[in-house]
Amino acid sequence: MRHFLKETDFKESELPELFAQARDFKTQRGSHARPLAGQTWALIFAKSSTRTRVSFEVGIHELGGNPLFLNAGDIQLGRGESVEDTARVLSRFVHGLVVRTFQHSDVERLATSGSVPVINGLTDFLHPCQIYADAFTMAEKWAGAGALVPALRGRKIAFLGDTACNMANSWVLGANHFGMKISLAGPASFAPGPELDALLAKSGFSGGYQFTTDPLEAVRGADVVYTDVWVSMGKEEESRERRRVLQPYAVTGRIFAAAKPDALFMHCLPAHPGEEVMPEVLDNPRSVIFDQAENRLHMQKAILATLAQARR
Ligand code: CP
Ligand code: NVA
Repeated sequence: MRHFLKETDFKESELPELFAQARDFKTQRGSHARPLAGQTWALIFAKSSTRTRVSFEVGIHELGGNPLFLNAGDIQLGRGESVEDTARVLSRFVHGLVVRTFQHSDVERLATSGSVPVINGLTDFLHPCQIYADAFTMAEKWAGAGALVPALRGRKIAFLGDTACNMANSWVLGANHFGMKISLAGPASFAPGPELDALLAKSGFSGGYQFTTDPLEAVRGADVVYTDVWVSMGKEEESRERRRVLQPYAVTGRIFAAAKPDALFMHCLPAHPGEEVMPEVLDNPRSVIFDQAENRLHMQKAILATLAQARR
């Protein structure tokens, strides 16, 4: 059974076809095949969502399937039924699961206990659907009508702010997988943790990442300046302290101007203008935040179609 829990779950050799399929789904919207016809995919969400929920519900529908949204708190999982039993029971009803939750080990346990594909719709550790849609967005901008995946190779991402969050972890793993370079800038106490280092080592990546406390150093020579919220879901109690220590890492016009002259600004959204990014950067012509959001749909349809095909 194939799952998509982390960036490396698609082999490097599979990326060109996956990205090409996302491009086809984008250009043929409404007139393509329906590889999920007759299937129901459940979305189990323990956290809020706009983009992930809507893009998966619409995407499953457009592929001919039926999306079934389950608030994790409304099913017995929220009252203590085990992750394993939930996976076993839902596998008897549905053809796949998309899961947004806190502990990354929960999506792994669902995948090992069930008998249907599981897609990680965000955990505290990783957000791989976002990274694939973002990489597709970059490749679209840089490749034009040419080959998408090679356009990523050698490019540099600068990730500023909460450099210990799911998006930072995922971008480190994704950059290594796509042959890109990544510099992270945040306070020393926000340096990536041992869980990420262990995963990089296990994945055989030697490039790793650069970590600095100097935002200007990170953005020098960058093709993309990326940031995420300072207070991720589940970290609300730390809001005040996070806003204080992360202040120097806000993406201001001055910091964005220190990247390459044609650098893109990217953010997974939701954004907090005036906090982790200034309005003049969000509204800059080189900000591609809404293309990123739209591409969640096209890339996830490619992921869904590939996992569904692998099941046959
Ligand atoms: N970027 C993202 O995953 O957005 P949602 O939290 O709205 O799904
Ligand atoms: N780091 C953010 C990403 C939201 C898409 C969070 O986990 O809340």
